[in-house]
Amino acid sequence: MTLARLDVVLAAAVPGHMGVGAFNVIQIEHAEALVAAAERTGLPVILQVSENAVRYHGSLAPIGLATKAVAAAASVPCVLHLDHAESIDLVDEAVALGFTSVMFDGSRLDDDTNRRVTRSVVDRCHGAGVSVEAELGEIGGKDGVHAPGARTDPGDATRFVADTGVDALAVAVGSSHAMTSRTARLDLDLVAAIHARVPVPLVLHGSSGVSDADLVAAVRAGMTKVNIATHLNATFTSTVREFLAANPDVVDTRKYLGAARAAVTDEAARLLQLLARR
Ligand code: G3H
Ligand code: ZN
Repeated sequence: MTLARLDVVLAAAVPGHMGVGAFNVIQIEHAEALVAAAERTGLPVILQVSENAVRYHGSLAPIGLATKAVAAAASVPCVLHLDHAESIDLVDEAVALGFTSVMFDGSRLDDDTNRRVTRSVVDRCHGAGVSVEAELGEIGGKDGVHAPGARTDPGDATRFVADTGVDALAVAVGSSHAMTSRTARLDLDLVAAIHARVPVPLVLHGSSGVSDADLVAAVRAGMTKVNIATHLNATFTSTVREFLAANPDVVDTRKYLGAARAAVTDEAARLLQLLARR
């Protein structure tokens, strides 16, 4: 059994300024690809199932338990993480299913409510041995704290961690969710300033829009958990598209999904190594 807690995996990475890849699982092929990448590189990986993915499947248990089974069979540490959960019931369900970590996303709540509800999530999850990631309130724009112009204030972040007891903090430093070009400009001085004051590992969301060079620079500046979803979905989808174009008579879904799974394994392995580079 190699299911690991988020706080343990991140604590091992922080002293060496190493980043840990946190990749999203939608289909079981994602879970298989990501664990294969972790096995190939010998590095830990964080497998994330988002509330949006749960909505797509209709419930958490089928994809959550399938991902848990794939992770549990690995020889490297795999964190099973609920991503961007706004529903407390979903958090409780994830804990009951054996997730080792949750992100409670109270960024749409007003600041006082976010702190109060996040604190209660932390108390419940810690009681069950589950780590908690959270984020500060929405600053503006449709993408909230992950809008390109949004920025986390280091003092505010420090107070939020003290008030809530979270194990990891998502911060706004210039990235934005669901970008399909890697052109985001990160505020690396701000990453360093937050890292200097906040006593828990930092999380970069929307990392698909960040270039390889900036991912490395962000990790050097103090970022630890690096969330990447869209970029690997682009790899998956372009592989399916190319495979079907080259093989128009194929009907066996394993042919093109298998090709996509292999491509995601390669790219996830490359990213895990890039992030862990000292
Ligand atoms: O929580 C997951 C992410 O922040 C992934 O964002 O799809 O822009 O890489 P992305
Ligand atoms: Zn995110």
